[in-house]
Amino acid sequence: MSAVSPDQATLILGGNEYQFPVTEGSEGERAIDIGDLRAKTGHITLDPGYGNTGSCESAITFIDGEQGILRYRGIPIEQFASSPTFTEVAWLLISGKLPTPSEYAVFSEDLTRYSFLDEGMKHQFEGFPRAAPPMAILSAMINSLSCFHPELHELEDETQFNHAAARLISKIRTIAAYAFRHSRGLPYIYPDPALRYVPNFLHMMFSQPYRQYVCPQMVRDALNLILILHADHEQNCSTSTVRMVGSSGANLFASCASGVCALWGPLHGGANVEVLNMLHQIHDGNITPEEYVRLAKDKDSKVRLMGFGHRVYKNFDPRAKMLGAIAEKLLPQLSANDPLLNIARRLEEIALSDPYFIERKLYPNVDFYSGILLRAIGIPTNMFTVIFAIGRLPGWIAHWWEQNRTMANKIARPRQIYTGETHRDYIPMDQRSE
Ligand code: CMC
Repeated sequence: MSAVSPDQATLILGGNEYQFPVTEGSEGERAIDIGDLRAKTGHITLDPGYGNTGSCESAITFIDGEQGILRYRGIPIEQFASSPTFTEVAWLLISGKLPTPSEYAVFSEDLTRYSFLDEGMKHQFEGFPRAAPPMAILSAMINSLSCFHPELHELEDETQFNHAAARLISKIRTIAAYAFRHSRGLPYIYPDPALRYVPNFLHMMFSQPYRQYVCPQMVRDALNLILILHADHEQNCSTSTVRMVGSSGANLFASCASGVCALWGPLHGGANVEVLNMLHQIHDGNITPEEYVRLAKDKDSKVRLMGFGHRVYKNFDPRAKMLGAIAEKLLPQLSANDPLLNIARRLEEIALSDPYFIERKLYPNVDFYSGILLRAIGIPTNMFTVIFAIGRLPGWIAHWWEQNRTMANKIARPRQIYTGETHRDYIPMDQRSE
């Protein structure tokens, strides 16, 4: 809960003065509570894009965009660089605390148990065209889980919620891998109960009926870190979507399916694909890095420097720093001296010394290096945003549950300023002029 500050905000409007309480979060972030603004003044706030609007209180993730700080449940993101697994971080986000050894064992066991899809669900993949975007399949199939698990629509208590969460976190990687296999016309590979979360996903992606994929430790570590770094990011577009859909009482699967759709867009999770497209264009000699940056600054061009800029970070995105460092270390070891990494470095260098980017505080974001890394570990480009979704899922689930418990029955329903026609009458068809 936020604390009520002794300060009050005063609004002077039409000669009248109104007082509004100020609340303060645990890291000192302050908000004017305008819950009764319309009732008191007859006015609403107008904030397209919600840049100044706090939609909720949340205890999951803290970001200080000015300083480049990101913490999950209080723990700085940098501390996740080495030891923890993605599933440990998933538990932390969802339950609020690091798992004890026995909690972790039970959670891991659940993830193994739930990794299989209903066979009926498996056949649904056949209905999609080969060229179907994997994000469309992912969203549709997560929604399909609502059909196969109606018993999990109403989650009565924390135990039931934990089971639903484990099912979803486990099955999303099976769905993701099957979407990929379907696009290639490859047979589906069942999950292997002997494998942990990340190697099991890669096994379902890359094993063949005649040859088991063996996951190198460095690949496993890199994907583990990528998933951790994407696991939550407070009220971003997809998480806000999950919360909004969930606020209507929609079940966990339906709400998370909507999160996948929101993530798909190129200004959000889809940016990791666009970064690679941009680097390829430069590599193929269609345009130089200097020319690309010039176009990105030109307001008539509609081009943006993909993987740069962030609504919240006005400093280095700490996730980009970590991914840039690991790309530098990992790529030579994978003997993938990727020329795209050098192009990315060059773009970063140009942009960071250009007044346009300096003045607007535009720095590399998480998507700038994630694509290069994913490419190095063999993930096809059209699966990049799917990997982002697998990583973000624990965050979506944590927010859905937090909202369910703290804002039960409060539907998210913004208002608007209407700018259309004022009252006019219906004209029958035969009296209308062409
Ligand atoms: N290239 C060129 N100019 C940019 C860029 C960019 N990547 N990003 C912002 N700007 C400019 C923008 O044109 C505007 O200039 P002006 O003030 O002259 O009109 C100014 O910077 C502020 O931009 P904005 O669009 O108002 O900022 P926003 O907070 O609404 O948008 C953003 C944030 C991430 C959508 C945007 O920076 C962007 O489009 N970046 C490229 C796409 C991208 O990398 N997205 C991934 C975001 S991080 C992961 C995630 O959240 O999924």
